[in-house]
Amino acid sequence: MNNQILLNHLRCIPDWPIKGVIFRDVSTLFKNQQCLKLMSDELVNIYKDKGITQIVGIESRGFVMSSAVAYHLNAGVVLCRKPGKLPCETIQESYAKEYGMDTIEIHKDAITEDDVILLHDDLLATGGTMKAACKLVKKFHPKKIYCNFIIELNTEFPNARDSFDPDIEITSLLKF
Ligand code: PRP
Ligand code: HPA
Repeated sequence: MNNQILLNHLRCIPDWPIKGVIFRDVSTLFKNQQCLKLMSDELVNIYKDKGITQIVGIESRGFVMSSAVAYHLNAGVVLCRKPGKLPCETIQESYAKEYGMDTIEIHKDAITEDDVILLHDDLLATGGTMKAACKLVKKFHPKKIYCNFIIELNTEFPNARDSFDPDIEITSLLKF
């Protein structure tokens, strides 16, 4: 994949949302047709032979590619959301992240034991969000869990990837 095109279009915002954080703004990748297609093609290429049945998108920037890729993989999309947004019965998990605590939830009937799950989010920093999402998904006992990120901040958070359960396969499109 042509990572340079993605890097050229990624917008980095210093001191947002708090001082000291450089925010990687993937909205500039979503808005660019070439970048959107590159990311979708690459994800479809990575996961096309894995038998993925559901893509779990993490609110909110994880929703975008989840939908594009699910279409091409003939999979469904499951929403993993911040509290109070899902209308039916949910299971929840709270976690620590780079700047504070948060909770995510998923509908209680969202996944079955027959599913092969790809969880997707825009970015891996501490890993708190995705590990909480994996914990929720594991409660459904799916056949297999894969995780993907557009960006992995492996310089700033070198231990994040290794802090996941070893049976979960992780990929990312950009690492820095
Ligand atoms: C960001 C990002 C990931 C998470 C990564 O979302 O989109 O979900 O943080 O950080 P972590 O690896 O340290 O958990 P955020 O929680 O800011 O929520 P938002 O999508 O509502 O902006
Ligand atoms: N972008 C998006 N989400 C984040 C970031 C970022 O740079 N850092 C921690 N969560």
